[in-house]
Amino acid sequence: MPSFMEPFRIKAVEPIPFPAPGERSEALETAGYNLFRVPARLITIDLLTDSGTSAMSAAQWSALVSGDESYAGARSFERFERVVTELTGFGEVLPVHQGRAAERILLHRLLRPGRLCVANTHFDSTRASVLAAGSEAIDLPVPVPCGTVLPFGGNIDLAALERLLSGPDGRRVACVVLTVTNNANGGQPVSLENAAQARRLCRAHGVPLLLDASRFAENAYLVGTRSPAHAGATPRELARAMFDLADGCWASLKKDGVANIGGLIALRDPELARRCADQLIETEGFPTYGGLAGRDLDALAQGLLEVTDPAYLRYRAESAGWFAERLERAGLPVVRPAGCHAVYVDAGRLLGHIPPHELPATAFAIELYLAGAVRVTELGTLVFGRPDPAGGPDLPAPRELVRFALPRRVYTANHLEYVAEVAGEVAAKASAIRGYRITEQTGALRQFAATLAPLGDTESVRS
Ligand code: F0G
Repeated sequence: MPSFMEPFRIKAVEPIPFPAPGERSEALETAGYNLFRVPARLITIDLLTDSGTSAMSAAQWSALVSGDESYAGARSFERFERVVTELTGFGEVLPVHQGRAAERILLHRLLRPGRLCVANTHFDSTRASVLAAGSEAIDLPVPVPCGTVLPFGGNIDLAALERLLSGPDGRRVACVVLTVTNNANGGQPVSLENAAQARRLCRAHGVPLLLDASRFAENAYLVGTRSPAHAGATPRELARAMFDLADGCWASLKKDGVANIGGLIALRDPELARRCADQLIETEGFPTYGGLAGRDLDALAQGLLEVTDPAYLRYRAESAGWFAERLERAGLPVVRPAGCHAVYVDAGRLLGHIPPHELPATAFAIELYLAGAVRVTELGTLVFGRPDPAGGPDLPAPRELVRFALPRRVYTANHLEYVAEVAGEVAAKASAIRGYRITEQTGALRQFAATLAPLGDTESVRS
């Protein structure tokens, strides 16, 4: 029995598909063994992402109907702006259609060739924006000694940040970014103390501190539960304390906006906001709708109120923790502690016989699909590795992780129980699983379009 209960009841349902084993293997072959290319109609439980996959509440559906579709200055924008300003304290609010639009607009105002963007860890679309601006993306995640479990494994390495800012490259740093929670680093939270120290360093060197606040509410909840000093505060108060430390933020509202589309830029500096708005008009739309319909802004305003509800966040964290435990009991090496938006499994440990350039995390994700039409994301060498310029095997990712992302309010404990069973079946035959080779790839975000082929019995990628 799970130790938590979903704090909602279900009002609208959507059937889920149950493709037969033969349909699954055929779908995979047609998709070039890339799960991004498998149609959703052939997926039973889709844990590919928690982004844009939320179930909206009755209050959000009702807010949609009162959306004001005026081109300029719609009531929907006023509601959205009010909710965002009350939540964050930032006076300048610009809606955008999703997170990466915000990243591109804001980061391109701050960066130029030769400059550095420093983060606890850049998410892949953030990194792509930094590189497109001709700048360098430097990740300074807090070091986690082998075998230790840190409550705030999403923190930035303050000593390394101080060294960088006061060293010869310090003058090239254009901004420091804290991604809360740290998606590319296990979905772990950033502590308020770490953010406060990062702010102190940024102030001392005249560098702006920004948040990628896509999962700000989950971060706030984890601060409240993992840090005794903040145990009495509400998630909303803790979220505000984090926003108060920053000069501005952007967010993909497809996560903690609990809606299916949307993003924002929120800033203190009116001049920087004006420059962002000029760009927004060119690429997103008028600054009071930013590529969204008025009704989207209403659904988001309501979602941003709901997402800091302590009962919802408790369920979110406890269901992730329970699911991690179920996976562990099924024989999977789970990354601990679990965060909120996903549970990560160390496929490198499970499939130690497959070298990184033969894509163990991908092989594991493919087996999960074959075994039970469950879709997860690989966060290993396919996503974070790079082709070797010298023509050798791919340069490996630091870890071979697989992410079981948890869409908000979509799947029940029963669904997750099924996933754990399927994962257990895969773990039980781990030693028989073989690697993959990439047959076609393009660009920096190669995981989306690459095609792969399974390696045969005696085959291996040239090494
Ligand atoms: N920042 C973070 C921390 C993210 O996790 C994402 C998206 C973005 C920015 C970009 O936002 O998708 O709205 O353009 N993460 C998704 C994921 C795609 O699956 O983790 P977007």
